[in-house]
Formats: sequence, C-alpha cells, structure tokens
Amino acid sequence: MSESLLKAENLTVRYGPVTALHDVSIEVNKGEIVALVGANGAGKSTLLKTLSGLLRPAAGTITYRDINLAKTPAHEIVQSGLVHVPEGRQVFPRFSMRDNLLAGSFTKNFHTAGKRADAVIAATPLLARRSGSLAGQLSGGEQQMLVIQRALMAEPDMIMLDEPSMGLSPVLADQVLELVSKLRDDGMTVLLVEQNALGALEIADRVYALATGEVLYSGTSAELKDDESFADQFLGVVTADAERLGDQLAESGDG
Ligand SMILES: Nc1ncnc2c1ncn2[C@@H]1O[C@H](COP(=O)(O)OP(=O)(O)OP(=O)(O)O)[C@@H](O)[C@H]1O
Ligand SMILES: [Mg+2]
Repeated sequence: MSESLLKAENLTVRYGPVTALHDVSIEVNKGEIVALVGANGAGKSTLLKTLSGLLRPAAGTITYRDINLAKTPAHEIVQSGLVHVPEGRQVFPRFSMRDNLLAGSFTKNFHTAGKRADAVIAATPLLARRSGSLAGQLSGGEQQMLVIQRALMAEPDMIMLDEPSMGLSPVLADQVLELVSKLRDDGMTVLLVEQNALGALEIADRVYALATGEVLYSGTSAELKDDESFADQFLGVVTADAERLGDQLAESGDG
C-alpha cells in the first residue's frame, strides 16, 4: 500500500493576531502528486512555508519520514530531502544560469555539482538555448524552469512547488505541469500549489482544497472531479468558461 512520506496534523499557524491556518491536516505519500488548491489568501503558501521550516506552527505536528519538522531548521529540512520552490520565481538575477543552479547544491558535494548543472542545462531545452544569459534576463517561463531545476540540484525526494504556472502563457503553463508529471514518473513526490485547479487535477493523484485557512475538501482527483459542490467552488469558473467556449466553437463550426 501507499507509504506515507509527509504528515502534518492539526496545524495552526498565526501571523501575530491573524490566524492563517486553523487545524489543518494533510498527508503526502511517496510517489504521489498532491495538489493544494484554493483562492487568494486561503493559506496555501503559509502551509508550504510551515512545512519547509520558514514558519513555525503555533500548534500541530509535522513528520517527514521519522523526522519532526516542526523542530528542524530549514537548511536541515533541505538536507533531509524536502525542498520548497517559493512563489514568484526568485532567481539571483545577476548570477548566470549555471551559478543559480549551483546555489541549489549547497547541501551537496560541490565538486560534482558543476557537472550536474551543465547536464541539467543541456537536458532542458528552455534553458539550453539561453545558457549564456544572466538569470535576470530570462523570460518568466525560463526563470520558472530554472528555479525548479535549482531546487532539484539538492537531490530531493520531495519537492513543494508554489504556483509554478502563475502568469505564464497557457503553452508554458502546460510545459511546467508536464515537467511536474515527469518528475513523479521518475520517482519524485510532489506537493503542488495551483490556482489552476483544473490543470492541477489533471496531473494530481490527490487534492486538498483550502478556504480561509481550513481544509474544506480532500480526496482523489477522480473523486473531487465528480463532486459537484467542490467543482462549483473550485472549478466553477473554469468549467463554465470552458463549456461556453466549447459551445461557441461548436456553433461556429470550428470545434
Ligand atoms: N507575512 C504576513 N503577515 C501577516 N499576514 C500574512 C502574512 N503572509 C500572509 N498573511 C495572511 O495569511 C493568509 C494566508 O496567506 P497565504 O499567502 O498563505 O495565502 P495563499 O493561499 O498563498 O494566497 P495566494 O493565492 O494569493 O498566493 C492571508 O490572509 C494573508 O493575508
Ligand atoms: Mg500563495
């Protein structure tokens, strides 16, 4: 059966007087893509920051393998195999692409990291064609690929991605989701935050939906796709728009 890798139970996280997460429990099994969806301000980024040790919970427990993450410093969490790609594609703009990648390998053997960085660039078409550029000169999609690859330089077992497709064209957003899917096929475990819930459901094994700091729904992607109230609340706009667009195309004879 599925082997639990990360388990957070009854987490409460506060920013001063603001409670951003209330009694949140989630579990991620080895080899799964778990999607975390929810509106702006729902608490998605707060949850990832808490799991990666950037924020500390006021209550609750977090276990990764048999490590108590709530008491582990962030850099040791990276060393234990759990990495976090924060929202907003934060590259080091004046570093080369290669040096950005090397920055991701600080917990690893620096002598072999250079070779791995070169191999990563060569194997990523979006990066290979811009290999001489500074990171700040790259497009949004190229920067997104770079920050994901930088996180992978730490050779993690599990990666947490915060809105990797945010602000990208549909084609690039699809490429990012394809990469996430491929990572899972290669054995990686993924916790994926996405506002594009429909896209996330396409590739995720299971889903948690957050609203105002609480888990409102959880289940397999297949279960939730069939749950009307979940679809209304989290897929509503997208599905309604898609249906309308489909109808229009059919009427105009282009569908
Ligand atoms: N540094 C902070 N200080 C105070 N409140 C904060 C801070 N960061 C987030 N919050 C509040 O915590 C709540 C959850 O924010 P969070 O950034 O986790 O949401 P999110 O689901 O990631 O939203 P988005 O989709 O916009 O990225 C919000 O009400 C937000 O205003
Ligand atoms: Mg966020």
